Amino acid sequence: MLLKIDQLTAGYGQAIALEKVQLHIQPGELVAILGPNGAGKSTLLKVISRSMNSQGLLEFNGQSLHNYSTEQVVGLGICHCPEGRRLFPELSVMKNLQLGAYLRTNRQAIADDLERVFSLFPILAEREHQIVNTLSGGQQQMVAIGRALMGDPQLLLLDEPSVGIAHRLKMEIFAAIRTICDGGVAIVMAEQDAQSALHIADRAYVLEHGSVAQEGKASALASDDRIRKIYLGVG
Ligand SMILES: Nc1ncnc2c1ncn2[C@@H]1O[C@H](COP(=O)(O)OP(=O)(O)O)[C@@H](O)[C@H]1O
Ligand SMILES: [Mg+2]
Repeated sequence: MLLKIDQLTAGYGQAIALEKVQLHIQPGELVAILGPNGAGKSTLLKVISRSMNSQGLLEFNGQSLHNYSTEQVVGLGICHCPEGRRLFPELSVMKNLQLGAYLRTNRQAIADDLERVFSLFPILAEREHQIVNTLSGGQQQMVAIGRALMGDPQLLLLDEPSVGIAHRLKMEIFAAIRTICDGGVAIVMAEQDAQSALHIADRAYVLEHGSVAQEGKASALASDDRIRKIYLGVG
């Protein structure tokens, strides 16, 4: 098992944001985390990338992450593409991508991964010298995903990759996410657009009020009456 979480609890001061969460990810799996605003999706990703503390079991490749710093976790192969993208807006596309590889030393492997990002998102190759804050929201999201890939992840954490993005680019981004996964990278993707997420995911968890309310194969959840009603606006 790549990632194993059990009885995981986390919060902000007195306010509990995750309570007794149980979850696992197999190598190479694409798992969607669904749920309404405030359900705890971003908190879960922050806990996995150690940008936030937690109690309970949190293991990556059988090793507890509790005493790891954010930077050490990147070194282990967990790369977080956070909410709001957190790019360097005044730097070029290329600089932002290169910064994703700051812990790595193998130049050839870094160059290969840059090629991989450009083949996933050809528009970024065309715009490699452009300053990031002059790109569209969708293109900036591509840079953010690309930057996370430049860390050479085994596990990629994506926080709402489609938020605020025009439909066509959104479909392109979801297709790229599936391609990344098919290339062997496990992905945990928090997403409000349940329909698109279930379309590309292998499995999904639904968070409600900080706890897992439902879980299963993406195809099963996509045809589940309760999910269809609440999250897909059908029925
Ligand atoms: N920085 C913060 N300080 C205090 N409370 C927060 C903070 N971020 C999130 N929360 C609270 O934690 C809960 C879970 O939030 P979050 O993980 O961001 O949910 P989601 O990503 O599913 O929208 C919510 O009740 C939210 O208000
Ligand atoms: Mg969120």
